[in-house]
Amino acid sequence: MAIRADMLVMNCTRLLTLAGPSRPRIGDEMNDLGEVESGAVVITDGKILETGPAEQLNAKYDCPQRINAAEGIIMPGLVDCHTHAIFLRPRADELAQRAAGVPYLDILAAGGGIYSTVRSVLAAGREHLRWETQNRLDAMLAHGTTTVEIKSGYGLNLETERKMLQIAGFLDRRHPMDIVATFLGAHVVPENMDRAAYVDFLVDEALGELKGLAEFCDVFCDAEAFTLDEARRIFSAALEQGYKLKIHAGQFTDMGAAGLAAEFGAVSADHLEHVSDEQLAQMHDCGTLAVLLPGAALYLMSETYADARRMIDAGVPVAVATDFNPGSCPCFSMQMMISLACLKLKLTPAEAVTAATINAAYALDRGDRVGSLEPGKQADLIIVNTIDERELACHFGVNNVRTVIKAGKVV
Ligand code: NIG
Ligand code: FE
Repeated sequence: MAIRADMLVMNCTRLLTLAGPSRPRIGDEMNDLGEVESGAVVITDGKILETGPAEQLNAKYDCPQRINAAEGIIMPGLVDCHTHAIFLRPRADELAQRAAGVPYLDILAAGGGIYSTVRSVLAAGREHLRWETQNRLDAMLAHGTTTVEIKSGYGLNLETERKMLQIAGFLDRRHPMDIVATFLGAHVVPENMDRAAYVDFLVDEALGELKGLAEFCDVFCDAEAFTLDEARRIFSAALEQGYKLKIHAGQFTDMGAAGLAAEFGAVSADHLEHVSDEQLAQMHDCGTLAVLLPGAALYLMSETYADARRMIDAGVPVAVATDFNPGSCPCFSMQMMISLACLKLKLTPAEAVTAATINAAYALDRGDRVGSLEPGKQADLIIVNTIDERELACHFGVNNVRTVIKAGKVV
């Protein structure tokens, strides 16, 4: 007799399960998508019950809901493990300034850039900010992202950092998207504030006050932001308060932040356009993931992209994310990042898919719950209008996702 289950998703060309070891994929493992030709997925209670050949599962299970993948591919929902998604508007004026040759960090040093978003977020009503963010989450979900990390960092005072983290928490509870909140009080030193006093405030006050609202603590360790010593102080305090760690490392300057991340057992070091071999070796030894953000390099009109192949060859697990934010990457499409990972980071399409799913899930310490289609994991999956992952990478700049299933429900 057939076994009852909630949903059967079938009739695909290929099912990409991303099944594999219970850890981030490294080296050539990134090319293994756990492919099942004409595969199917059985879902019950919002979780994956079984995957395998459609014919077999169709006979074994009795499911009231059947989803026809109509010759597309079935794959895990995309995991965007690095965003700054809470803001009002993109800084459109700066695009023209940068096109005219003014560097991003000069705009910041002159009180624009991140500071300009901080001013608007400080002034914004909570409802307005929440509404803008919620609309973006809807669009992200429609583009196949089912888990997203969101950083604070446009408040830079207790009240507004709290407002941002509370919005992330509220939307996590109310929106189908899973949201992982990160405290990025250490984004830049607020205007007209002494830097030592601000670091003291973060270490002695903010980290303690905001714990419980954020799972991770992040530091922008770069020129015009925080030094390695400041990042070390903030990391020590954050660890003591029970935060997991992430860092913006080597986006513009190699300050040694990736090595610091490894030393502190950070979950990930992000950006890494500039990073030494020694630090990559440290990341490898400590299991720190590299989160690469090709959309930011593209939008900042940079010639310098992260050297992903050097990282993969060094045995560092690589993930990709959007860095979605109003100034350095106003693009929230993880599909676009898969294409850019191939075009600019020279990953294979399979490596890019691994980087955007299971490795990205590990970059949020969620590798045991999402990022692959394996029994017991949350049923977050997408149906894509292409016959394989190579075509997904080819069709850049458009939405190839036809259906999104989040925790077992079509959304
Ligand atoms: O990751 N580099 C620091 N923070 C963001 C940019 C934020 C902004 O420009 O508003 C980033 O690129
Ligand atoms: Fe960022």
